[in-house]
Amino acid sequence: MTAADIPQVYAIDHEAFPAESLFRPYSSYARELENSMAHYIVGCVPSTQRMRRMGQPWFRRLLSRQYLEEHAGAYRSDDFLLGFAGFWIMLDEAHVIAIAVREPCRRQGIGQGLLVSILDLAAKLHVRVVTLEVREGNKSAQAMYLRHGFYIAGRRPRYYSDNQEDAVLMTIDDIHCDECVERLRRLRAETLRNGWLAHPPLVPDSEWLAGS
Ligand SMILES: CC(C)(COP(=O)(O)OP(=O)(O)OC[C@H]1O[C@@H](n2cnc3c(N)ncnc32)[C@H](O)[C@@H]1OP(=O)(O)O)[C@@H](O)C(=O)NCCC(=O)NCCS
Repeated sequence: MTAADIPQVYAIDHEAFPAESLFRPYSSYARELENSMAHYIVGCVPSTQRMRRMGQPWFRRLLSRQYLEEHAGAYRSDDFLLGFAGFWIMLDEAHVIAIAVREPCRRQGIGQGLLVSILDLAAKLHVRVVTLEVREGNKSAQAMYLRHGFYIAGRRPRYYSDNQEDAVLMTIDDIHCDECVERLRRLRAETLRNGWLAHPPLVPDSEWLAGS
C-alpha cells in the first residue's frame, strides 16, 4: 500500500467496517504507512494503461458503471483496488488489523489472496504467532480464517462498542510448522490457479455489459 492508495483504501474500509471506521479518520491511514510496526498490502487490478499493454481488455467489465461512477472521486492511484489487508508486528506476533474486499467483488478468491499474502509476508518477517479478532456474527470471515489454519482461541465479551457484540479471538500458533507451511503452499497455489489474476473477477451488470 502506498499513499496514492489511501483514497480507495478509505472507501473500502468504510464500506466494509461502517461501525469501526468511525474511529479511523482519513489521516490515520497515512500515519499507518509511517508506522514501522504496521504492514499493509493491497489487491488490485493494474491501471487501464498498463492493462492495455498487458492485453487484458476485461477491465471495463470488472465493475458496474454505476459502481465506478459512485466511487469515481477515489482514484488517485492508477491501479483499481479490490481490497486491502494489514497487520501489526509486536515481537514474534502479527496481529491482523483489517482485511476487506470491495463488496461487489467478494466471493471470488480475493480475500483468500490477501490473507495468503499477509501470512507469507508475516512468515518472511520472522513472525511465529498470528492473531486476530473477528465479530461473533461474522461467520464468513471466520470460515475464511479457519480454512487458513486459524483456530478459535477465546472470546472477548461485548468487545464491539457499537452493538456490544463479542469478539472471537483466532490464532495460528506457529506459521512455520510443517502443517502450516504445507497449507500455505496449497492455498498459494490455489490462489494463483483460481485467483483474480488468472480469472478476472466479474460483477454482472447488464448496462455496462450491454455497452461493451
Ligand atoms: C471476509 C472477506 C474479506 C472475504 O473476502 P472474499 O473475497 O469474499 O473471500 P474469498 O472469496 O477469498 O473466500 C475465501 C473463503 O472465505 C469464506 N467465505 C467468504 N465469504 C463467505 C460467505 N459469504 N459465506 C461463507 N463463507 C465465506 C469461505 O471459506 C471462502 O472459501 P470458499 O469460497 O472456497 O468456500 C469479505 O467478505 C469482506 O471484506 N468482508 C467485510 C470485512 C470483514 O468482515 N473483514 C474481516 C474482519 S475480521
